[in-house]
Amino acid sequence: MTAPAVTALDDTLPLSVLSPGQRATWERDGFLVLEDFVSAEACDSLIHRSVELLDAFDPGSVQSIFSTKNQSRTTDSYFLGSGYDIRFFFEEEAFDEAGRLRQDKALSINKFGHAQHDLDPVFSAFSRQPRLAALARDVGLAEPRLMQSMYIFKQPFIGGEVVCHQDSTFLYTEPMTVTGFWFALQDATLENGCLWALPGGHRLGLKKLFRRDGDTVRMDVLDETPFPDFAGKAPYVPLEVRKGTLVVLHGLLPHLSGPNRSPFSRHAYTLHVVDGRADYPADNWLRRPDAHPARGFD
Ligand code: FE2
Repeated sequence: MTAPAVTALDDTLPLSVLSPGQRATWERDGFLVLEDFVSAEACDSLIHRSVELLDAFDPGSVQSIFSTKNQSRTTDSYFLGSGYDIRFFFEEEAFDEAGRLRQDKALSINKFGHAQHDLDPVFSAFSRQPRLAALARDVGLAEPRLMQSMYIFKQPFIGGEVVCHQDSTFLYTEPMTVTGFWFALQDATLENGCLWALPGGHRLGLKKLFRRDGDTVRMDVLDETPFPDFAGKAPYVPLEVRKGTLVVLHGLLPHLSGPNRSPFSRHAYTLHVVDGRADYPADNWLRRPDAHPARGFD
């Protein structure tokens, strides 16, 4: 393998994306809402690319996952192999009792992931924009490694809720460096299932850890203390944001999103970045082939 060309990328990066006030908000709340971080055109290009990828996906082989007795095993295998692939996952309510899709394939997928940021040129370019690299540096990721990406559809009518969780439960380093970059590709509202966050909740410590042991996974409870009950009000705050907004999420921040019962989809793209200086324990579910370790922004 030839050495990558030396570029002047660092010279072209803004020195800092965040103002001192935004840095203080990040430290205090564990999340940041950055409006107009990406253009509407950039959002549209990602939506367009997702449609192309979805068109090319044949659900036949995967649909069987939901209609066989070995559903969980097959699902695990499909899921566990998605760390360096682009795989599609259905909404829970996508199938009827007979195992048939209730609506068109394009309206039945929950998300796809988890390596389009490396394997697809459109997603790679979106994920490696210089401003994002500068922002990652701003929030302390000195040696960023782009570990995981998800394209989330939050489909009209059947978009599933995501219960309160911390991203570090599902992707972790020692010490904790996981940072989520959540891009609203469409307006996110209370009606179509916007994010909700628990301000300051990143100081509560990690509650659960999803661990892989070979081809099985388990959830370890590290702290029995529950998150505050979610009742659609304080202490949680809704993050109703417009298309093009970037929400940055500390890996320990409790957050969730409600179901989408509206006629409008709520597409979002998430990228999870860790710091290469931290240890990435082998019992993370997400594994990369030795030949394709996680890369940075260049
Ligand atoms: Fe999350």
